[in-house]
Amino acid sequence: MAIISPSVLACDFANIQSEVEMINKSNADWFHIDIMDGVFVPNISFGFPVMKAIAKHATKPLDVHLMIVNPDNYIEDCKNAGAEWVTVHYEACPHLHRTIQLIKSHGMKAGVALNPHTPISVLEEIITDLDLVLIMSVNPGFGGQSFIEGAIPKVTKLKQLIGEKGASTLIEIDGGVNDKTGKQLLEAGADALVAGSYVFKSENPRTIIDILKAL
Ligand code: DX5
Ligand code: ZN
Repeated sequence: MAIISPSVLACDFANIQSEVEMINKSNADWFHIDIMDGVFVPNISFGFPVMKAIAKHATKPLDVHLMIVNPDNYIEDCKNAGAEWVTVHYEACPHLHRTIQLIKSHGMKAGVALNPHTPISVLEEIITDLDLVLIMSVNPGFGGQSFIEGAIPKVTKLKQLIGEKGASTLIEIDGGVNDKTGKQLLEAGADALVAGSYVFKSENPRTIIDILKAL
């Protein structure tokens, strides 16, 4: 059964407590928290005060996706704001090994996200250090975009690399996930699915989460 991580980027920010409580009661596993800086991606989402507010009510782990430059400067803030999983972008980290060790030194699980154009092969020398790899199936920055099909063969390649290296890394996918794309991704070997608009823009988010859990 897949890990389901609803992206709160698509929730109703004026009612964040009730949205968090809805996810608490649902069969979802994590909260996906998208932090954007308007530099690495062409959009700004929210920062640590909002993350802390979510953490105050959340009863499930926060899965934090940092779409920011210089993430090393904010790893401690992530810890203080309640993060359990922290994922940084490969494209934003010239010293990725150091960044991953920094996340782990704060007692958090470390992940790396790959933009749609970034090949799986760049992770060959670091995969055994990673708790999670996040394959982007849209260009990061916005919710509600359509799924880029090239993500599916990337899942297959990553699964193969994890097997070859004997790593225990989880494969997570983010962007344009619904019942159809979700099923294809799980068949290719994904472990965790992020879903924003598919969950929060639906009439019944908890039923949608159940549909994703049952794929
Ligand atoms: C996009 C974010 C995603 C976003 C996904 O940059 O990283 O987490 O919320 O939204 P959907 O599921 O609507 O594509
Ligand atoms: Zn995300």
